Amino acid sequence: MRRSPWIRRTPPSLRVVTAREPLTSKLEGFGTTIFAEMTALAVETGAINLGQGFPDTDGPAVVLDAAVEAIRSGANQYPPGPGTPELRRAIAAHQARFYDIELDPDTEVLVTTGATEALAGALLGMLDAGDEVVTFEPMFDSYAAGIALAGARVNPVLLAPGEDGAYHFDPDALRAAVTPRTKVLLLNTPHNPTGKVFDAEEMALVAAVAIEHDLIVVTDEVYEHLVFPGATHVPMATLPGMAERTLTISSGGKTFSTTGWKVGWACGPAPLVAATRSAKQFLTYVSGGPFQPAIAAGLGLDDAYFAGLGPAMAAKAERLGAGLRAAGFTVFAPEATYFTTVDIRPLRPDGDGMALCRSLPSLCGVVAVPNQVFYARPEHGRHLVRFACCKQDGVLDEAVERLATLSS
Ligand SMILES: Cc1ncc(COP(=O)(O)O)c(C=O)c1O
Repeated sequence: MRRSPWIRRTPPSLRVVTAREPLTSKLEGFGTTIFAEMTALAVETGAINLGQGFPDTDGPAVVLDAAVEAIRSGANQYPPGPGTPELRRAIAAHQARFYDIELDPDTEVLVTTGATEALAGALLGMLDAGDEVVTFEPMFDSYAAGIALAGARVNPVLLAPGEDGAYHFDPDALRAAVTPRTKVLLLNTPHNPTGKVFDAEEMALVAAVAIEHDLIVVTDEVYEHLVFPGATHVPMATLPGMAERTLTISSGGKTFSTTGWKVGWACGPAPLVAATRSAKQFLTYVSGGPFQPAIAAGLGLDDAYFAGLGPAMAAKAERLGAGLRAAGFTVFAPEATYFTTVDIRPLRPDGDGMALCRSLPSLCGVVAVPNQVFYARPEHGRHLVRFACCKQDGVLDEAVERLATLSS
């Protein structure tokens, strides 16, 4: 193609850049996500990427075929604002089948661009400047950004690994984090990055605090079907007095190994869904036309499919965990999710997880993520690092072999 003679190309180095700071002060300090940095490092060095949590195998053929079929049969334009009726019905049926939660697919279910947009929509749609959100740290990195974009504040409650190797929180710290400005309690169970599943007692405690202070609970349950044998996922909306104040968020990405499709949802009482939709409609409006029927097909798969996910991922976590232990890390065994966290200090006494992750690709050809990026108070996670196990066994074995060279 010939370029118009009127358009002159200015080399980047000579471009005049405005003196104004382009970045909103709300996003000061957020920079590029660690996943982008570490994934770029993996590509650049050819290292095995155990940083970002995406599976390296495809999900069920029925789900993939349904997307192909939808594209071929013309589902390629804007879907309806709240999501296709078929997918909203499938989400409602899923909540009824697994948790006995009854939802009206027309007013109580909203399809979003992944759980990420459901979270952003909920936070932007519910919070005013100066409001406060209580959440546990470490936390999925979009939480802090979503809260900041809403002009609100995070009041973090620490999840710390105990002597038993599991993550716990101090109930008094939770109570103390709630102030008169707190409007939302943002919960994530099963939890990324710790792999913790909040047990019945912990859930009851969180619910009691929410009820006492009349908080809205936004609960991120994207790993609901990746729970390992021995642990049980208790959805917040099933606790007494909680259905009426809980917005539940999930996504097809983890359950069907389709993280790139970004089909998520938010469901719960109509006013909470409406507030979320008010913001969501101005973010993407809609997305994923042909993927919505495919995720609906996935949600209709038989119980055996869902029941098989947790044990299969548990075996991978075990494989990776054994290797991490052999490499010399202190491993906090996860109860769910794609992730295993380790304390690096036995191998690296300075406890600098960020420095270790930046050098790991050149040291041994593996990429991991420093947990400090998941903390509002990074010093609490400085010595912790996260590895993802959602990879083929051969890839995990190769990664473990490479990690073993760290202590030699
Ligand atoms: C806890 C948690 N919430 C939300 C998301 C984002 O989900 P989605 O890819 O559906 O936007 C992730 C993805 O890693 C996650 O770990």
